[in-house]
Amino acid sequence: MARCFVTRKLPGDALERLASEHDVDVWEGELPPGRDELLAGAAGAEGLLCLLTDRVDAELLDACPDLRAIANLAVGTDNIDLAEAERRGIPVGNTPGVLTETTADLAFALILACARRLLEASAAVTAGEWRTWEPRGWLGHDVHGATLGIVGAGAIGSALARRGEGFGMTALLTGRTPSPERVPLDELLAESDFVSLHAPLTEETHHLIGADQLRAMKETAVLVNTGRGELVDPEALRRALEEGWIAAAGLDVTEPEPLPADDPLLGAPNLTVLPHIGSASHATRGAMADLAVDNLLAGLAGEPMPHAVGAR
Ligand code: DGY
Repeated sequence: MARCFVTRKLPGDALERLASEHDVDVWEGELPPGRDELLAGAAGAEGLLCLLTDRVDAELLDACPDLRAIANLAVGTDNIDLAEAERRGIPVGNTPGVLTETTADLAFALILACARRLLEASAAVTAGEWRTWEPRGWLGHDVHGATLGIVGAGAIGSALARRGEGFGMTALLTGRTPSPERVPLDELLAESDFVSLHAPLTEETHHLIGADQLRAMKETAVLVNTGRGELVDPEALRRALEEGWIAAAGLDVTEPEPLPADDPLLGAPNLTVLPHIGSASHATRGAMADLAVDNLLAGLAGEPMPHAVGAR
């Protein structure tokens, strides 16, 4: 029996499965453990099931000499220093696949919501501002037939492209792997009506979308981010929305997270911000928990994890 530290309560019965084989300590707070609490909870653990809100770096790994397996409840692993884990021979697992379609659903929902100004229009009704059918009121942009630029054409980006096909959209893709269907980022930005970000967060993709990229987009374009907040320079985005370089933005992820209510970005017009809910369906979060536990069980048994991540 190995001692495992789990940094949050999870949906479904995955943790019961883990507890049937190991000694499991679950952080009971509704908010993530603070740094000291994380270090204290993980010290002495052989298995760590963590979230994207937990920074797993050299300091933490040094504080946990018994650690033999790490399972992240996310497909993104930018919260984990993979090279440091690899150097210590600790396998790291993530949860790809199970959240692909759910996250692509949310990206498409943001495209529709921003293009057709759903939140603004709904808020106006709630505020008693619906006076009549207004021929010039609440005009947005068509989604059908538009050009959809997908930055980071992995599983989620490809799932979004399939949704776009159903709306008669033309997809432009860019990503790390060169292929004949892919176009350079500057071409994608200049030609797309909607630009959706799905690249992993790395040193190369940090603030991939800054002032130059936002200025390169159409004035009628919508930027959607369901990847990681740090892909976009938030100050440049604030200016882009305030000065009309682009028409709107829909963000499920921000820098920082959570975004404080007094963050300057929230004062920008035509902005929809969601609290990182891309994978938040009952079925998908349950499947993520199952996969994270499968990874941890395999790692602790000295077997290959079903979804192991290597250092880049
Ligand atoms: C991930 O898995 O990386 C998402 O951001 C959370 O579902």
